[in-house]
Amino acid sequence: MTSPDSPSAGPATRELEGQVALVTGGSRGIGRAIAAALAAGGARVAVVARDGARAEQAAAGLPGQGHRGFACDVADSVPAAEALKAVENGVGEVSILVNNAGITRDGLLMRMKEEDWDEVMRVNLKGAFNMTRSVSRGMMKRKDGVILNVTSVIGLMGNAGQANYAASKAGLIGFTKSVARELASRNIRCNAIAPGFIHTDMTGALGAGVVEGLTARIPLGRLGEPEDVAGVARFLAGPWARYITGQIITVDGGMVM
Ligand code: NAI
Repeated sequence: MTSPDSPSAGPATRELEGQVALVTGGSRGIGRAIAAALAAGGARVAVVARDGARAEQAAAGLPGQGHRGFACDVADSVPAAEALKAVENGVGEVSILVNNAGITRDGLLMRMKEEDWDEVMRVNLKGAFNMTRSVSRGMMKRKDGVILNVTSVIGLMGNAGQANYAASKAGLIGFTKSVARELASRNIRCNAIAPGFIHTDMTGALGAGVVEGLTARIPLGRLGEPEDVAGVARFLAGPWARYITGQIITVDGGMVM
């Protein structure tokens, strides 16, 4: 016999029924795929993105009922706190937070503008801090919660031309481990996913030659799809991962090992 929290119950179960997930940057790419995977698991999802209309559109396309879209720039602490209030009023108390919103402003170190450094830090690192600080207050009271941070293999390996992005994603790894240690006693788990190269708008600008070169370095022989990341997010959000915290899970076709 299988129970809903047993792995043998299989992926058709709705193990996230009754949960509310907030996914930042959920209007497209990896964030949208994560939102869809959590919705398929039974969660009601609040999609947060800078463009409110796109967030609502993405929410309307998710499987199941009760999803909503919200406009918010996660890098600004006041709007982030206000967005959380709107999510709590409109969808419910957040039990799963996915800090996925992220940007790149690539350039070689000598040519990198100060504003490109600052903007990447603001969105990728401070955005996660803003949302986590706001959401964890309620999680701590309820002694229950899951926080997932979307970092990158670039935060582990570094990359020429991405000093700002790599630093922000490495920072997110330190943040993940610290939050995991700090909140574990309140039954809040915090993990990070480090995707490799995934087909999205972010990687859409790469030329065919670059993609060919990248593919040659990936043992599984292809770039990833957003769904490859989303399945891991659903696993980490759910009961089968209940003894996992403070971990960085790479989803990269074996590129970093
Ligand atoms: P994308 O560019 O397709 O989507 C980014 C999302 O973040 C959009 O919904 C956008 O509205 C949102 N966003 C950006 N700045 C925001 C802000 N200030 N406030 C609220 N929302 C904001 O990107 P993609 O590829 O889906 O990436 C998602 C995450 O995965 C990012 O954190 C990225 O760094 C990470 N990642 C992506 C990889 C890839 O190969 N595509 C590889 C490794 C990590």
